[in-house]
Amino acid sequence: MANENGKLRVAAIGDLHVQETDVAPYREMFAEIGSLADVLVLCGDLTNFGKTPEAEILADDIKSCSIPVLGVLGNHDYECGQPEEVARILHEAGMTILDEQAVEIEGVGFAGVKGFMGGYGRGELAPFGEPIAKAFVDEAMNEARKLENGLRSLRTERSVAVLHYSPTVETLAGEPGEIFQYLGSQRLADAIDRFDHVKAVVHGHAHHGTYEGRTPGGTPVFNVAQFVLKPLLGKPYAILEV
Ligand SMILES: [Fe+2]
Ligand SMILES: [Fe+2]
Repeated sequence: MANENGKLRVAAIGDLHVQETDVAPYREMFAEIGSLADVLVLCGDLTNFGKTPEAEILADDIKSCSIPVLGVLGNHDYECGQPEEVARILHEAGMTILDEQAVEIEGVGFAGVKGFMGGYGRGELAPFGEPIAKAFVDEAMNEARKLENGLRSLRTERSVAVLHYSPTVETLAGEPGEIFQYLGSQRLADAIDRFDHVKAVVHGHAHHGTYEGRTPGGTPVFNVAQFVLKPLLGKPYAILEV
């Protein structure tokens, strides 16, 4: 499946935000991607509100995709309080939801989690004081731990980390600085930077952010929110060679 230079062509898109009124919103694009890439990665906010009909509409489009589809949920997929149901519907359509489980495709590993907020560097919220503040930070630490476990389970020389929230401020440039702390967590980058095999990180969530950046450890990060890609690449998805 991999192309002439032995690289895997990874198509990535985040923030699909499928709505109940949509009719086969991604069918044509998934068919196009099937002819250009070896695997399709979806970086969360797959549905607009996490409603069952929204997931079913996307599931129908996923069924028509000719290459493996994998990815993570986003915060929008949690809005109706039934992320397990959204995940189940997409899984039954053939999508691999990464979360606890990492996968290997053609020698390239994929590990991913939704991630969470909490900020970066000096602005990182610490688990201190009120129980609710600790619970909030716990969520971010948990997501980072799951990502680290997934990455550690891979035995590949090359891997891709798949997220919804951003591991770095670099791909947030363009968003108001006041909300950076709600767009991701440096704890995700800390997990990624423990491994040499991570060749690329893809995330969404920051609709007004920047396409390319790096983790503090130097791992390339790509914000593939479709609203970032469309004006930049003329299409709502990116293709990375890994
Ligand atoms: Fe989004
Ligand atoms: Fe989001």
